Amino acid sequence: MVQEGQPQVREKGVWRANVRLWFVAVISITLLSACFIASCVVTYHFTYGKTGKRLSELHTYYSSLTCFSEGTRVTEKVWGCCPNAWKPFGSSCYFISTEKRFWSKSEQNCVGMGAHLVVINTEAEQNFIIQQLNESFSYFLGLSDPQGNGKWQWIDQTPFDENVRFWHQNEPNFSAEQCASIVFWNPGKWGWNDDFCDTKRNSICEMKKIYL
Ligand SMILES: *[C@@H]1O[C@H](CO)[C@@H](O)[C@H](O)[C@H]1NC(C)=O
Ligand SMILES: *[C@@H]1O[C@H](CO)[C@@H](O)[C@H](O)[C@H]1NC(C)=O
Repeated sequence: MVQEGQPQVREKGVWRANVRLWFVAVISITLLSACFIASCVVTYHFTYGKTGKRLSELHTYYSSLTCFSEGTRVTEKVWGCCPNAWKPFGSSCYFISTEKRFWSKSEQNCVGMGAHLVVINTEAEQNFIIQQLNESFSYFLGLSDPQGNGKWQWIDQTPFDENVRFWHQNEPNFSAEQCASIVFWNPGKWGWNDDFCDTKRNSICEMKKIYL
């Protein structure tokens, strides 16, 4: 009787060990799944969520986007997109508005398209922009001196970098001119000029590219 009982005891022991193993396995898989789902939700929220929101916002103004493949390695390939009729450069899209408006109306016009008046951060950007312009006109920039005390400010709060200023010679020269435009003056040069905010000018809008 005792000899018959012993295998049963051993079987019970094996059975308990199995249950414990399964229990650990199920808990581990559950935890892994939870982590996986959480990271998917977070990734979705930060990438697709944000892009999706911007896309649907922009869809109210634009029926289509033009996208270019960016990134040097195959694994880094993304699509950088601008609305049709906007010009891509770096991580931004640019729109040259040929309708003349006051400075504040120009900014409103850009905001209405999901953009802002242009902020020039580098010489390369300035060089790109002037290639898009017509030498017969002035174009408002997202740069103003609201107090008329020479404290020029970019519209997106970008610090006004001493090394990235392209004023024409002897400009700015008049404290009542509190808005900046870019203009072609002979002999042969594009540069910035302080301008009256309530003159009507063409303008340049800038928005960040949409990455897909
Ligand atoms: C620039 O604007 C003038 C005046 O509207 C126009 O005659 C000329 O064709 C334009 N130039 C270019 C390069 O678009
Ligand atoms: C500022 O410079 C512009 C262009 O050189 C000139 O036409 C204008 O008269 C100047 N304004 C003042 C107040 O000096």
